[in-house]
Amino acid sequence: MELWHIRGGRKLDGACFVQGSKNASLPIIAASIICPMRSELMNVPQLRDVDAALRILRHLGCSAEQGGGDVYIDSSGLSGSAIPHSLMEEMRSSVIFMGALIARCGEARLSLPGGCQLGKRPIDLHLSALRQMGADIEEDGGEIFCRASKLRGAEILLPFPSVGATENIMLAACTAKGETVIRGAAREPEIVALQGYLRSMGAQVQGAGSGTVVISGLRPEKQAVCRIIPDRIVAATIACAAAAAGGQVELRGVDPEQFSTVLHFLNQAGCDIISTNRSVRLFSDGKLQGVGELSTAPYPGFPTDAQPVLMAALLKAQGRTVITETIFENRYRQVPELRRLGADISVSGRVAEIWGVECLHGTALTATDLRGGAAMIVAGLASQGETVICDDGHVTRGYERFDMRLRSLGADIYLEY
Ligand code: EPZ
Repeated sequence: MELWHIRGGRKLDGACFVQGSKNASLPIIAASIICPMRSELMNVPQLRDVDAALRILRHLGCSAEQGGGDVYIDSSGLSGSAIPHSLMEEMRSSVIFMGALIARCGEARLSLPGGCQLGKRPIDLHLSALRQMGADIEEDGGEIFCRASKLRGAEILLPFPSVGATENIMLAACTAKGETVIRGAAREPEIVALQGYLRSMGAQVQGAGSGTVVISGLRPEKQAVCRIIPDRIVAATIACAAAAAGGQVELRGVDPEQFSTVLHFLNQAGCDIISTNRSVRLFSDGKLQGVGELSTAPYPGFPTDAQPVLMAALLKAQGRTVITETIFENRYRQVPELRRLGADISVSGRVAEIWGVECLHGTALTATDLRGGAAMIVAGLASQGETVICDDGHVTRGYERFDMRLRSLGADIYLEY
């Protein structure tokens, strides 16, 4: 169990670099097994989820080492196609190994993935797409056995732009016979990053970032090299923390376009924001205004992953904010904990209404999930007195040395292991 100790009331001040993206790193690590080769990945964050992905690689017979921000993988020794439940349950992204394994071995045996409990998280779109590509899939309880002597390219229409399904199809399609066209594909920056890595591997992929992605084959290179993009949700979290606590921060090495919807609402709340193409400066006097109505949506809409941290930033914002969560059915698990700080939030189904309060008072909280835990940290920084968050390892799944990063900006926070 980890304990986050936060003494709120200090303004944040200073500059920091933003870590590499967790959600870009994980599918790229899975993709490294598509063909026997070495991969060098730079700017990979040191996180529990990354560690779990590397352990899956080693279990499959690959070598995988992380030294600082660099990860070196050699997948030439891959000797298995089954991932045990104990590894699958550690994170959601383990499901992306399905597409990679079937591309390399023609079969994959795994169980339903773990990850944050955000309501039902089916993988029907992943399975349906692989079936359309010729895979034979048996489901037995939580176990999945997926087989295809040779996948064939297909035209796949996704009824919803699922990030994970788009990634799984892209990986499986690399070694399929013929061209695969994904229509209704997710357009997230992490999909563009995956395309970049696959190209460096020798795959012919185009269209990522638009709704149509085309994969037409793979001529393996000797080595794939890739630099992981900055984490737009961590950037959004630090921006929300500065907005709530007040102060001036500069986020370096980020692409402001990738979290522009979050910056838009922080600006509407009263923060001044100056963006260049590689940095964002945010100024806040800590006296924010409610932003009215906002809804989460697939990229380029407002990201569901930033919803809890923006909510936390607006707990003291004068007036009303109404959030509609359209992506996950249960992404308000942080709300009862935020109320314990004195927040005025009511939830009805997918809609949360927040009325800004004068003051929040630190108390003992329990982290519910990754972004919910991050929201509690943001709220704690804007509360009077001490907040202690009891966390069963949720936040460190996605935030690298977050206590140190916030301390470097002047926050009074430390993490007790
Ligand atoms: C990715 O999850 C991210 N995870 C999530 O980040 C993020 O919240 C999500 O995309 C949306 O942006 C990783 O990249 C590792 P989806 P993923 O498939 O791929 C439904 C975080 O905090 N759906 O786009 O699981 C699903 O139930 C995490 O870092 C189906 O119905 O998201 C959900 O309601 C949390 N059937 C919606 O689509 C399917 O087969 C979005 O899911 C697949 C998805």
